[in-house]
Amino acid sequence: MKQYGIGIIGTGSIALKHAQAISELKLATLVGLYNPNSKSAESAKNRFEEPVFTDLDEFLKIPGLDVVCICTPSGMHLEPSLAASKAGKHILVEKPIEVNLERTDQLLASCEENQVQLAVIFQNRFSEDYIKLKKAVAQGVFGRLLMGNAYVNWFRDDAYYGTSKWKGTLKGDGGGALINQGIHTIDLLLDLMGDVSAVFGQVQTALYPIEGEDLGTAIVNFKSGALGNITSATSLYPGYPEKIEVFGTEGSAILEAGKLISWNIKGKESNQIITNSGSASGSSDPNAIGHQLHLAQWELFLESIKNRTKPVVDGITARKSVELIRGIYLSSQRNKKIMFPFDDSLF
Ligand SMILES: NC(=O)c1ccc[n+]([C@@H]2O[C@H](COP(=O)([O-])OP(=O)(O)OC[C@H]3O[C@@H](n4cnc5c(N)ncnc54)[C@H](O)[C@@H]3O)[C@@H](O)[C@H]2O)c1
Repeated sequence: MKQYGIGIIGTGSIALKHAQAISELKLATLVGLYNPNSKSAESAKNRFEEPVFTDLDEFLKIPGLDVVCICTPSGMHLEPSLAASKAGKHILVEKPIEVNLERTDQLLASCEENQVQLAVIFQNRFSEDYIKLKKAVAQGVFGRLLMGNAYVNWFRDDAYYGTSKWKGTLKGDGGGALINQGIHTIDLLLDLMGDVSAVFGQVQTALYPIEGEDLGTAIVNFKSGALGNITSATSLYPGYPEKIEVFGTEGSAILEAGKLISWNIKGKESNQIITNSGSASGSSDPNAIGHQLHLAQWELFLESIKNRTKPVVDGITARKSVELIRGIYLSSQRNKKIMFPFDDSLF
């Protein structure tokens, strides 16, 4: 008998990656799934070996259920998280934590009140080369950081939005390319560069008939004094691997799709490097990503539950990427620079 039982809420494409990752965990096992829609639950029974419940109370009462993984559409993370935390279950929620700060704060408060652990999936933090880059930045290898850039110039075809009820909608997705796709790289940018003091953003719905943006850009002021650029799109054919650039007074590095492709330190190392780190980019195909980095985050989350320590990418950390993206949206809507913190209930 493994130590922890995991249940998954939502039975779509990312739930399947979680099921694959969980099947490789030493400490835990998947004990069941939940989907309130009987048709979706029925079809899920063909894709998952574990029981699929349509009644939330029954699901939450599965014997040995300790941790719930939230894989519902982004704007539907809150309600199942409230139910699971009230039932005393630890929570691993898919990115973004929620689609605005009000809903995010309700989710954080419920986990705090019920004393359950909360972490948010940002699997790109666990590529070998990202960990190397993060360590070097923390050790000051690049000196004082001057600029950090995140580019997510991706492409999705018509079917991507056409076949989903929630993607690209304000309620279900919270917007478009920034909050769904760009957020992974924006999370890394914040992890490397620190907190934000202001942002000026511009977003457009340039190609697809969706409510959210399929094209966006922003100039960021970090609290440290450094500057940053962000681009994020699902309209830029054919879709290029996402990229992070970090420039400091002593050197710079570029990470592309989780792989370091450039590393230059003044007077020391100066090279273009090739590694096997990283994972397949979702630049033009959302299903291209593997489950190995999800597995790495699951392993660490279970350790933090076991040892009662702060998880990597806890709720407060995950709130920061939502805050920055909401700041970009507000800036674009008002056509002015937004100073942080700002009132997110204004739009
Ligand atoms: N980490 C990653 O790289 C990554 C990749 C893809 C998706 N995601 C995130 O995962 C989440 C789900 O995305 P997806 O691509 O799997 O979507 P999907 O549309 O394939 O699946 C969503 C599932 O949730 C179910 N559902 C809807 N409302 C529900 C409710 N109230 N209760 C329970 N189930 C409900 C749907 O029936 C469906 O099974 C999103 O937040 C998305 O941002 C993360």
